[in-house]
Amino acid sequence: MATDNNRFQAIISHCKEYGFIFQSSEIYDGLSAVYDYGQWGSELKKNIKDYWWKSMTQLHENIVGIDAAIFMHPTTWKASGHVDNFSDPMIDNKDSKKRYRVDHLLEAHADELEKAGKKEEGEALLATMDKLLAADDMAGLKQLIEDNKIKCGVSGTSNWTDVRQFNLMFSTQLGSVTDEASEIYLRPETAQGIFVNFLNVQKTGRMKIPFGIAQIGKAFRNEIVARQFIFRMREFEQMEMQFFIRPGSQKEWYEYWKEARMKWHQSLGIPADQYRFHDHVKLAHYADAACDIEFNFPIGFKEVEGIHSRTDFDLSRHQEFSKKKMQYFDPEINQNYIPYVIETSIGLDRCFLMVMSNAYAEEDLSTPEKQDSRVVLRFAPKLAPIKLAVLPLTKKDGLPEIAREIMDECKQSFRCFYEEKDAIGKRYRRQDAIGTPFCVTVDHQTKEDQTVTIRYRDTMQQERIPINKIRELIEKQIL
Ligand code: GAP
Repeated sequence: MATDNNRFQAIISHCKEYGFIFQSSEIYDGLSAVYDYGQWGSELKKNIKDYWWKSMTQLHENIVGIDAAIFMHPTTWKASGHVDNFSDPMIDNKDSKKRYRVDHLLEAHADELEKAGKKEEGEALLATMDKLLAADDMAGLKQLIEDNKIKCGVSGTSNWTDVRQFNLMFSTQLGSVTDEASEIYLRPETAQGIFVNFLNVQKTGRMKIPFGIAQIGKAFRNEIVARQFIFRMREFEQMEMQFFIRPGSQKEWYEYWKEARMKWHQSLGIPADQYRFHDHVKLAHYADAACDIEFNFPIGFKEVEGIHSRTDFDLSRHQEFSKKKMQYFDPEINQNYIPYVIETSIGLDRCFLMVMSNAYAEEDLSTPEKQDSRVVLRFAPKLAPIKLAVLPLTKKDGLPEIAREIMDECKQSFRCFYEEKDAIGKRYRRQDAIGTPFCVTVDHQTKEDQTVTIRYRDTMQQERIPINKIRELIEKQIL
């Protein structure tokens, strides 16, 4: 059984063993901080995506979705501030040549202090770090690392370079000529695709403020310390929504979206005490208020989503750099203005890891007669990769034919899985391990009275229900 300390490792192993996540290009020894989603991982990821998309677009009449390109005109990133500001303070260890993000190095040290019973010292360290980061005080950050005698995990020495800022954007060339003018970036956030399309959507959709534009898509960051499985990746997906509002109403809408997003998180079936808000001390270059929703991952409380009051920074900058007006005429107050924006931005992969961490359970089922245990993924049924497994008790006596009919009846409505190999208990356990909430078993009684045994993943309880009630029962549970 996994202890608290190795729970994270157990989840990573389970993801690989059961087809959720594989290291990218594993046969070539993998690519650091890049991952592939397997057969069940891609289903789970898609279900999370669809659930977010529906909650944003279908359930909000004033939010529409777009799908912008990953490549954008390079001036986009000048205007957004990413060329000049999208960097993190880094420090290199001269002996191991390893590069670290300064905040990660200090946070890891604060964690160690807490584990050693010096919680207050750790908190004081983080408070000092926040102040130095807010003041962009690179020399002060280096001093803090030295004062705390922080060592490199690889070389074991404190032989550090100065702290410097490193840009996190990946660049590449457009076309065949390699010159500075053809250099473009892989987008580090999806948000800019929304900003540059603001007027296209507003005009063609006849949208009235307040309204939102949502988008799901890949983003790329050259993360330096990327050793936490899919928590911090170099290629990842974001689900972002920019909500355009009247200037002056940003506080009210910021609070609205904080509450709305927290409710969404809890609707995933994750208990409220597994979340907390973290207000930013050091605000990003575009924000006048910002917070994170943090989830209690097996590696501690960490950011899963950011909510940012981005003012009119982005639209104003695009107006300035493109020389195209980004104004909106508000008929209610008869005024032109550049809208303010509240952004909600959640990492899809991080959300996946959150759902997986919350679902993963190892259960001891031993009785005095027999040692037994199971690993079960307690996904909310609406997110589970497979909703129903259809299992004929034996491969003969007409049972597979009945099971196939049930498959045909249900697979139009939700993802089903058919299996006839191995003892029924073994098949149940395999479905538990991939989080299938319902299994139905077709047995000899089915031939007599048209009923099957339905087995519930979480309680392991079983009951008989008529075949013609299966689809309805499951549809109710996965809404
Ligand atoms: N448009 C605003 C923005 O991108 P962010 O806080 O940098 O804000 C938003 O990122 C979310 O994207 C984060 O809360 C996190 O869930 C996810 N994210 C950011 N960097 C990531 C990475 N390297 N790997 C996985 N997810 C990441």
